[in-house]
Amino acid sequence: MTDNAIRQATAIAHPNIALIKYWGKAENTTENEPAVSSLSITLDELATRTTLTFDTAYKTDRLTLNGKPDTAKLPRISSALSVMRQLAGITTPCHIDTSNNFPTGAGLASSASGFAALVVAANQALDLNLSLQQQSKLARAMSGSAARSLFGGFSKIYLPHAQLEPAPFGSNYAEPVAPADHWPLEVCVGVVSEEEKAIGSTAGMENSRNTSPYYSAWTAGNDADVINAEALVQARDFDKLAELSEFSCLKMHALALASRPALLYWSGATMDAMRAIQRWRAEGTPVFFTVDAGPQIKAICAPGYGELVAQRLSELSGIKRVIRCRLGQGARLLD
Ligand code: PMV
Repeated sequence: MTDNAIRQATAIAHPNIALIKYWGKAENTTENEPAVSSLSITLDELATRTTLTFDTAYKTDRLTLNGKPDTAKLPRISSALSVMRQLAGITTPCHIDTSNNFPTGAGLASSASGFAALVVAANQALDLNLSLQQQSKLARAMSGSAARSLFGGFSKIYLPHAQLEPAPFGSNYAEPVAPADHWPLEVCVGVVSEEEKAIGSTAGMENSRNTSPYYSAWTAGNDADVINAEALVQARDFDKLAELSEFSCLKMHALALASRPALLYWSGATMDAMRAIQRWRAEGTPVFFTVDAGPQIKAICAPGYGELVAQRLSELSGIKRVIRCRLGQGARLLD
């Protein structure tokens, strides 16, 4: 590509929520390789929409986030983009215009949707013609969970499938498990706090790897959890997936809690909702919880139960609002 062209592309991507959690980076990784396998669902209603405009008339990169200039997040995004500019053989500055229809950096996976949208838009604008696997690898290098937002429905990063390619791609990538219509689970996100989290996932993961006494047990278990979860998704076995997914979530938080300093991502409202969801399931409502690196509660429901669970969740004190989602598509271009 020549350096003097104006290039523009817009992409949309959705956050994903891990049912089998990723927490921890491989040792000595230069490409942000995960230390564990993971499996997730991609949502639809929550979305990041990103327009990239590469123009030699710009002096430097600039970022507009939700309609406002943002200099704090620019360096990370700018250097991610430079990896792709290098592949295209250009140095043209870019205006990154991105918006989220949900709270940014608050445990709702805005980095997953944000970096997935960035890779898909840059692949198009810079004429890179990368395969989905390569796009997923680049997204993983920017934010581990972003690799999974390239795909809709259910997707996984399965470490034994790693395929080493020279930098900047590296080894691990996400791959589809099943499309959204295979099993249209519903998700109710209970928003407990709209504030940005105090400890980002990268710092948290490094802390856990360096200090948590449970770390080796954690990394030893995730390949098997992913294999089992994939079989349960294929069989649409809600009860067994509920048990396995809550196990993975609580195992990740046990690891985080036993780090020094401790990583306590829950608030009182998060725990109240976890207990309520377990009670509803014991009473016969097909729902289970998961929680990421923030206080929000995500209630995963069997098809047709979203409305009932959203209603009950919104009645719990400490839940500020409930966002209802279905499973959605992977990252894609908009035009
Ligand atoms: O992709 P990161 O670096 O934001 O890490 C995501 C970590 C969790 O959301 C807690 C778990 C996961 O697998 O998405």
